[in-house]
Amino acid sequence: MEGQTCILVLAAGAPWESTALPALTRRPGIVVVKRCVDVTDLLASATTGQADVAVVSLDAPGLDGPAVQHLRHHGVEPVAVLADAGRGDLGDRMNRLGLVFGVGVDQVDHLPDAVLAAGAADQGQEPTTRPGPAMGAGHGRCTVVWGPAGAPGRTTLALAIAGEFAQRGAAPLVIDADPWGGSVGQHLGILDDVSGLLACARASAAGELGGSYLGLQRRVGGLRVITGLPRPDRWVEARVGLVEQLVELGRRQGEVVLDTGFALEDDPAAEFSGRPSRNGMTLEALSVADDVVVVGNADPIGLSRLARGLVELRETIGGKPVRVVVNRMRSSVGWSEAEVTGMVNGFAELSGVHFLPDDRGTTDRALLGGRMLAELGDSALSKAVARLVDGLRPGTARAGGRRLSRRRAVPARRS
Ligand SMILES: Nc1ncnc2c1ncn2[C@@H]1O[C@H](COP(=O)(O)OP(=O)(O)O)[C@@H](O)[C@H]1O
Ligand SMILES: [Mg+2]
Repeated sequence: MEGQTCILVLAAGAPWESTALPALTRRPGIVVVKRCVDVTDLLASATTGQADVAVVSLDAPGLDGPAVQHLRHHGVEPVAVLADAGRGDLGDRMNRLGLVFGVGVDQVDHLPDAVLAAGAADQGQEPTTRPGPAMGAGHGRCTVVWGPAGAPGRTTLALAIAGEFAQRGAAPLVIDADPWGGSVGQHLGILDDVSGLLACARASAAGELGGSYLGLQRRVGGLRVITGLPRPDRWVEARVGLVEQLVELGRRQGEVVLDTGFALEDDPAAEFSGRPSRNGMTLEALSVADDVVVVGNADPIGLSRLARGLVELRETIGGKPVRVVVNRMRSSVGWSEAEVTGMVNGFAELSGVHFLPDDRGTTDRALLGGRMLAELGDSALSKAVARLVDGLRPGTARAGGRRLSRRRAVPARRS
């Protein structure tokens, strides 16, 4: 049904069904097409092609990895209801089954949001065969994109990496953690100013983040997105520990990519008083990163800022290796890639140096259309990003013929 998310429900006798069904049927855009009696019934119902999402008890007997794969094969994205949201092993079980969406049994009122998010995930990418190892759901890594002042392309790169992850089968979570003003929403053509980050901050303050943050994510072209600050002065509302909490939750579902600010100065006085510091989100992101990607501009000013930035970063994160991306590389700057690599080498422990070409035509097309590079088809820039992601996630490959597309945007819930 066009514009509707049709769902199958398998409660397997669990008491949450009596609360969940009215909540689901009340929500516009959701149609409950069938209550199934067991996993066999669920799997058979999935083959009819009538459903987009299956709401299932994580405890349902027979719900295993192949059952989850069967559902996805037939275009049905599972949403688990977790019997006991507090126990850590449930997260492990979700990961083992490859489940991305889940709601605690005490948070069933958030189930409709999770269902709509899962429905959009299901529609965001064409089903396709995968020629090589692809990135699936499950425990992911956190990639943090940082770069010095001067708009070197942090947001462009964070979204390009996330788009490439999506092309390799992940449904990455992008968090706009730039304390100097978010721009991920603008890059993606999200027109309203509902801030996912501030909604998460409020949910976190109320102790409800674990249950509600799925509903606060936007689904855009294969990405899950937590949009950033609508205005730079709202940074004070981003609580200490928020970014860390979001990364921790996000990593349980898969890849997490963070866009950050440029400044690294700490404010120890703020830390002692428990209030956020001006660059707290950037520093928190770097402290939890599994992979740090540093982007700098290829021109003389950009390169000197990059060199200073790498030194400052080393003082902040210690000897953790970083991957450097020299952006907007062009012959007119007069240096070869080998010369730039030699210069960068002296300033940091490196896990790689990559170059992205200056391609104003492609980035303008992306910005003006609110699109990711991955949605625009192949370009020299997208190929360079793919090589960078080969370095970040060796052994993963693009799914054959996959090109990200958007059929429907699901608005975030205001909180
Ligand atoms: N490789 C590139 N070639 C041409 N323009 C680029 C490239 N990378 C980024 N840009 C442009 O540079 C500007 C700043 O990029 P952005 O990602 O917003 O920077 P930051 O997040 O570091 O402030 C944008 O207009 C973007 O389109
Ligand atoms: Mg930015």
